[in-house]
Amino acid sequence: MTFPTFVKIVEVSPRDGLQSEPTTIDATTKIEFINRLSETGLKAIEVTSFVSPKWIPQLADHTEVLQGIKKKPGISYPVFVPNANGLKKALAAGVCEIAVFSTPSEEFCKRNVNCSVEECLQRVADITTIAKEKNIPVRGYISCVLGCPYEGEISPEAVLKVAEKLIALGCYEISLGDTIGVGTPLKTKKLLETILPKIPAEKLAVHFHDTYGQALANIYVALEKGIAVVDSSVAGLGGCPYAKGASGNVATEDVLYMLNGMNIKTGIDLKKLMAAGDYMLQHLHKSSHSKAGQAMSGK
Ligand code: HMG
Ligand code: MG
Repeated sequence: MTFPTFVKIVEVSPRDGLQSEPTTIDATTKIEFINRLSETGLKAIEVTSFVSPKWIPQLADHTEVLQGIKKKPGISYPVFVPNANGLKKALAAGVCEIAVFSTPSEEFCKRNVNCSVEECLQRVADITTIAKEKNIPVRGYISCVLGCPYEGEISPEAVLKVAEKLIALGCYEISLGDTIGVGTPLKTKKLLETILPKIPAEKLAVHFHDTYGQALANIYVALEKGIAVVDSSVAGLGGCPYAKGASGNVATEDVLYMLNGMNIKTGIDLKKLMAAGDYMLQHLHKSSHSKAGQAMSGK
């Protein structure tokens, strides 16, 4: 068993976190939040989504936010795009990296992006064709990899099939999303043991929601398998508006606390990260789901 010596955290709170909050945060606060996150040592911060404002009103200010943040050299600032329409808007706003979506679940696909899995993959193909021309790296999300709120069990083979398609379309990395947090460590192991013979660990990331408190245990399994990119969200913000029961993403503070304890480097300052999380929590008027954050601030 060899753990990675360095893990890259992809901070998804400005997108995955704020898309599901009932309170819509104003653009100035989001910009300040992202600027604070940029000072913590993070190497990747997902800024927003270029999706329909009718579907996700919380992120309707995507252009203002993407253009308003201070882009620090060495940090990537991807945005989520569901179709070529979204990519066109993101390009006009000056985007340098994007993330796309797919899933093996027909029903989740319909509810999330209003089309079939096949149509969704065609949209990804349209996006990657343009992205290649513009030299824009594309990260691929796969949702519901360990279970779907509508279809229940999802087989690892079905996830592998989608992952291979996304790689063939040009995604440089696949982020495996446990959208509703139903995964457990042995299920995670089985999924990774199905995927890893076909797709190397260097092309994989994990994205856990923490509904049943399984995320850290699942991340540990992924680390054991050599995966060195973990998506997480400061203060455990997040969810998915189209997945009933999807609670927050695993808290970045908790992931960092575990990685620090395992002597795995991330380059991130935990105290600065907690302060950035507190800043957003004050604006959302809620308390942190991060166990590390609560313990260190004596809550
Ligand atoms: P639709 O209604 O089927 O789209 O929505 P349409 O093509 O029929 O167009 C309808 C209208 O939307 C038109 O405008 C289009 O111009 C407009 P109208 O003529 O009515 O004025 N439109 C757009 N506007 C802005 N940006 C766009 C865009 N595209 C069309 N990109 C659509 C299809 C995909 C747009 C919609 O379903 C949508 O926006 N869905 C949001 C999905 C979303 O953001 N979900 C959450 C992110 S995924 C997630 O959280 C999971 C993840 O975290 C991993 C995990 O945890 O598993 C990634
Ligand atoms: Mg998510």
